Amino acid sequence: MGERGGEHHRRFAVPAVLELLELRPGESLLDIGAGQGVLAPHAAAAGANYTGVDASERLIRLARRRHGRCGRFLIGDARRLRSTPGLEAAAFEAAVFLLSIQDMDDLEAVLASAGWALRLGGRLVLLMRHPCFRIPRQSGWGWDRSRKLEYRRIDRYLSPLHVPNRVELRGGSARTLSFHRPLSDYVNGVATAGLVLDGMREIAVPRWDGERSRFAREGSGEIPLFLGLRALKLGTRGEHRPGSGLARHVTSR
Ligand SMILES: C[S@@+](CC[C@H](N)C(=O)[O-])C[C@H]1O[C@@H](n2cnc3c(N)ncnc32)[C@H](O)[C@@H]1O
Repeated sequence: MGERGGEHHRRFAVPAVLELLELRPGESLLDIGAGQGVLAPHAAAAGANYTGVDASERLIRLARRRHGRCGRFLIGDARRLRSTPGLEAAAFEAAVFLLSIQDMDDLEAVLASAGWALRLGGRLVLLMRHPCFRIPRQSGWGWDRSRKLEYRRIDRYLSPLHVPNRVELRGGSARTLSFHRPLSDYVNGVATAGLVLDGMREIAVPRWDGERSRFAREGSGEIPLFLGLRALKLGTRGEHRPGSGLARHVTSR
């Protein structure tokens, strides 16, 4: 994707994340599933102390080479951040999953781990493909001839899915897995981790974006491509009663 990320990243995902994070100078940010560290220069420009964690040694090497001056990069598993050397409990004012949470399983362990890393009052931002409208291989654009309208077709939504992908790379290809889950899994997962949702953004990609570019296929601008959620770590687990009531009821299938 190059040093600064792909076009969707640069133009839509990164700005949405920065808006939700509201970083202030001197704050510490943990980027979970940081990949090649696309977010690091933006965090550094905001004056934040950046730490990126990723399970891939290869991507962390690349991130250090490209963005090492913007912060530190650690190899670690998002499900077990407490076992990552260099990370401590309650050390971060902010944490983010930038297009990474849908590549991770299990969700409950990953969100609990992010909660462990956050200070009281800290904020967690999740930026993902919109789980209601962008279900890999189970959604797409269609053309309604009678009404002369483009529509978004959703074939499957409530059932979780894991979707194998083949990624073409310079010098070969790689296989990855991504996970579709319904929106309630994220909302209730955040609650179970002891966090409280306090903001949400739904980001549509404009149909005509300057020149007639690849964005032209992205519908009327009414169907969002990305979903951003922000949650706060407030009080203790006991005060929040995580996992009680609706959260427990809806997540159990
Ligand atoms: C689609 S990439 C996004 C990378 C980066 N946030 C970005 O926006 O460019 C997803 C990343 O999640 C990482 N990942 C997947 N499972 C992980 C886990 N359990 N722990 C840490 N990183 C993980 C992958 O190695 C990959 O770098």
